[in-house]
Amino acid sequence: MSRIVYVNGEYLPEDEAKVSVFDRGFLFADGVYEVTSVLDGKLIDFDGHAVRLERSLRELDMAAPCGKDELLAIHRELVARNEISDGLVYLQVTRGSDGDRDFVFPGADTQPTLVLFTQSKPGIRDSAASKNGIKVISIEDVRWGRRDIKTVQLLYPSMGKMMAKAAGCDDAWMVQDGAVTEGTSNNAYIVKGRKIITRELSNDILHGITRAAVLRFAAEAQMEVEERNFTIEEAQAADEAFVTSATTFVMPVVEIDGAQIGAGAPGELAKRLREIYIEESVKAGV
Ligand code: PDD
Repeated sequence: MSRIVYVNGEYLPEDEAKVSVFDRGFLFADGVYEVTSVLDGKLIDFDGHAVRLERSLRELDMAAPCGKDELLAIHRELVARNEISDGLVYLQVTRGSDGDRDFVFPGADTQPTLVLFTQSKPGIRDSAASKNGIKVISIEDVRWGRRDIKTVQLLYPSMGKMMAKAAGCDDAWMVQDGAVTEGTSNNAYIVKGRKIITRELSNDILHGITRAAVLRFAAEAQMEVEERNFTIEEAQAADEAFVTSATTFVMPVVEIDGAQIGAGAPGELAKRLREIYIEESVKAGV
């Protein structure tokens, strides 16, 4: 079934949607994005994603294509038109183009390009990965220094997932100066005793919207949280490990670089957090 997608003010069948070959998103990866999950047809944490989008745009001196209310209306319209129950809405804003390739940004009157589309993911709540946990490898983090901005420069994360796949694993955790930064498309955590440990926020990692919600729920459930660096060796010796993102929610990690974590099965705390996250997020969804 063909999807209806959104491009610059129009809702179109996916094979009729077009963006210029001169668009700076295509030529320079000059764009930012958001992924908002959908559960029971409701948008999860829409406000958090909209606020982070505004910040990404501001940091790159890129014009906002429209206001938050209009963005919400477009998200809802796409969810309705494509009959999405469980899945996601992908949004991308690029700097557009003045019709040539030039490293210098085009004039302020250049219209940004706004594209949104949906992906249906039935069964995402009870996926095999969420029940069995995932295996990760570690790789060096060679990305640029502004990982707090959610840009579409995702070649290295894609390469990381391919390296993981070649090693018979599901994903990779990136390491910089001996400490884990984050997963290729998620934030990384370990659990020692009843304490959740995750890297502190900085330009080195994306400020995950799921991370913020999960840490809030953890605190409400009287779980202890410590925001600090940790190494792969510390993670391998931890009781539990997990990742969070809008597409995986809370996903247990059961193996790191061949070393089994805890009992080699999803940990109790990660399982509990996943339940709480999904339940509370659906309640608060819009
Ligand atoms: N990725 N870190 C990185 C590098 C990410 O790409 C993502 C999200 C996260 C988690 O952020 P959030 O909780 O706001 O989804 C952390 C999205 C899902 C993606 O690229 O598909």
